[in-house]
Amino acid sequence: MKTKRIAIFASGSGSNAENIARYFAGNSAVKVACFISNKKDAYVFERARKSGIPSYYFSAGQFKNTSDVVDFLKKENIDFIVLAGFLLKIPENILQAFPQAIINIHPALLPEFGGKGMYGDRVHEAVLAAGRKQSGITIHYVNENYDEGEIIFQAACNISPNDTASDVAAKVHTLEYEYFPKIIEKTLNLLF
Ligand code: GRF
Repeated sequence: MKTKRIAIFASGSGSNAENIARYFAGNSAVKVACFISNKKDAYVFERARKSGIPSYYFSAGQFKNTSDVVDFLKKENIDFIVLAGFLLKIPENILQAFPQAIINIHPALLPEFGGKGMYGDRVHEAVLAAGRKQSGITIHYVNENYDEGEIIFQAACNISPNDTASDVAAKVHTLEYEYFPKIIEKTLNLLF
């Protein structure tokens, strides 16, 4: 069977990107072909270097106004795109080139606490401000609106009364590391 090639898009630290790359290392069915970032100095580049994953920078302007990213993904024979802490909206040309083949992870239980501007600690602060007793992760297909594509998987964690946003972030990250690679694998098996 043909190896499925994944590109992981990340704007920041990239701990999920690294975790996913580690999970699939040595797997002949799935290859993490590259990390892509829209931030030149993102820590994900350091993780790419350590993990031996090729990594590439494309500016926000290239994403929005050119076909550079799609051309690159096609040249690299990418089958599937994973957004892991990627903060730019995915433009129409990429959505069209990869139908049902782009997924995102959101650090809360959608449909609540999603949408534009809802990323990082802002999400966890909003969850705490709303007095929620639980948060979690949502893995979903990507469409033209932030955090609105079809939900593939959710998992929840409990919030304790004294939890801070960083406590919630840590619990959410634990869920992300555990489930995101497995759900990617499952989704690939269903699609291809
Ligand atoms: C994760 O919590 C992810 O859900 C969100 O951004 C965070 C990225 O963390 N979309 P990292 O860069 O993978 O460490």
